[in-house]
Order: sequence, then structure tokens, then C-alpha cells
Amino acid sequence: MTVKSSEELDGLRKIGAIVAEARDLMRDSVRPGMTTMELDDIGARFMTARGARSSPQMVYSFPGYSCISVNDEVVHGVPCDRRIAPGDLVKVDVTAELEGFVADSAITVLVPPERQQGKRLLACARAAFQRAMKYARAGNRLNLIGRAVENETRIRGFAVVRELCGHGVGRSIHEAPEVSNFYEPRDPTILTEGLVIAVEPILSERPSRLVKEDDGWTLRTHNRCLAVHYEHTIVITRDKPIIITAA
Ligand code: CO
Repeated sequence: MTVKSSEELDGLRKIGAIVAEARDLMRDSVRPGMTTMELDDIGARFMTARGARSSPQMVYSFPGYSCISVNDEVVHGVPCDRRIAPGDLVKVDVTAELEGFVADSAITVLVPPERQQGKRLLACARAAFQRAMKYARAGNRLNLIGRAVENETRIRGFAVVRELCGHGVGRSIHEAPEVSNFYEPRDPTILTEGLVIAVEPILSERPSRLVKEDDGWTLRTHNRCLAVHYEHTIVITRDKPIIITAA
């Protein structure tokens, strides 16, 4: 969507704050021995109490409230009886709707003892996002975001999961345009004031393709290498973007 009024911005901020709070509550709740379904329930109870609804559930009939993906699982992990173990990388991807507005945010939690490689990957995803924010301005080409993510990732020796990308958001979970995590030189899209997009570096240790698990949802790396995910919903302005899902 493109935000055209302060009422629309307020609506987005409201669901953005709920998504951010639920994401951080889930981050702080991760414990070894807990199942991913128990973790999902913590977020679901919080958001349901505030009147929000799960977008993946509403739009895609996803069998959970949020997506929880562990280690080599990249995205769309189904909350289940899998127990979180010491050293795991737990990706929590929250997308929810309130009063017709939708926000989307994801983080990766490193369960102690933190793996060095996980730390490096997560630092890379955060840095890639921050670098992309420098180019996320009205009037700039959209492909500068992907270029920034790809460059930062390459410098640090990791790989972009090329089959996945960011997207427009705000009224529904997945809207135009696609926000690639690598440079698309032929994409002519120009960022415009008020445009709402989810910017989400999804990175892996090594170049990898995606394989779907038997549950029909969970996507993992074909070579079983680790993956991280870091995502915020932002609004494009003439100046710095507004991070709708900031903590
Ligand atoms: Co997203």
C-alpha cells in the first residue's frame, strides 16, 4: 500500500507496535526444551488479546499463528512439537492484521551457547538491512535495496537465499512490489513517498536452494546449512524511512 493520510499511518503504527512487541516477547521467551508450538502460543495469545489476527493463517490457511523455522529451516516453519535445543537458531516471523492494516517482522534468536557462525550470520543480516536503509528513499530506485543487501552479504562471505524476497505490505501480507535481496539491474521501479514495504534479508552460510519439507510448508536449505532472517516493515519517505515494526 501507499500511505496517503495520517489516519492510515496511525493504523499501520498500531499493528506495527503489536507485531514488534509480540516478536520481542517471543524472542525473550525462547528456552531450550520448549516446543515451537509453545513459543507460537505465547505470541498468539498476546496478539489475539489485542485484537490482531494472523495474516498467514487468514490468507494462506497456515497451520500456526506465526512462522517458526529452526537452523537449516529458512522460512514458513510450522509450529509443532519440535523441541528447541541449546545452540539452535530460531527464526520467528510475525505477520498480523488489525483494523485492515498489516505489519510483518522477523528476527533470529540464538539459543545459548551461541554458535559463532550463527552470530556472524545474524550480524550480517542486521548490517545488510541497515545498509539497505541508506537507499530506501523516495526517488531512489528500488533495486538499490537488493544491491545493498547483496553487497554486504558478499563482503562478509555469506549468501543471499535468492528464491525469497521482501514485498509490499500494509493492507495484505504480500503486495507488489517484490523487494529482491540481490541486484536486479533491469528493475525500473522507483521508490515513492508513502510506499510500505517489508525489507527482509534472508541469508545462508553457503549458496543454497530451497527444499520443501513433508509438512508442505517449511522451506529448508538443500545442503542443510544454517539460515537467518531479519525483517522490518518500513514506510518510504523523502528522508529516512519510518520503521513501523521497530522495538
Ligand atoms: Co515478509
